[in-house]
Amino acid sequence: MKPVLDHIGIAVRSIEGAAVYRALGLTVDHVETVETQGVRIAFLPVGDSSLELLEPTSAASPVAKFIEKRGEGIHHICFRVDDIDAHLERLKAAGFRLINESPVPGAHGCRVAFLHPAAGNGVLIELSEKVK
Ligand code: CO
Repeated sequence: MKPVLDHIGIAVRSIEGAAVYRALGLTVDHVETVETQGVRIAFLPVGDSSLELLEPTSAASPVAKFIEKRGEGIHHICFRVDDIDAHLERLKAAGFRLINESPVPGAHGCRVAFLHPAAGNGVLIELSEKVK
C-alpha cells in the first residue's frame, strides 16, 4: 500500500477556540489526550483524511513551544503506512533524519514516528500505522 494522507496537524491554543472549522461545517468526532506528547487532540474528518487540532496540555509540551516560537498554525502532516518499521528502517538507511527511530504510541492507539523537518523540506512529517 502506498502511504495515504491521514491527517494534517494544526497547533492551536485551544480546541474550543478554533471556531473556523465548525463554521465550515466540520465536526469533531473524537477527542483524546496523549500524555506522552503533552497534547489534547481533536479529530475533524474531512473526506478520507482529518484535521487534527493539537492543544498543549502544559507549558513543557512540544506543541506549546511550537506556538510560543511560531504562533498557531500547521504543525505536521501525517501519512498512514502499513509497515512503519520497514519505512523507518529504509528512511534511516537512506540518511533521512528521524526524530523517532522506532514507533511510539500515538492517538487512536496507532504506532507513530516523526521525521525531522530537515528530512521533510521544512515540514514535520508523521508516519502512522494502525494497530489491528
Ligand atoms: Co498527528
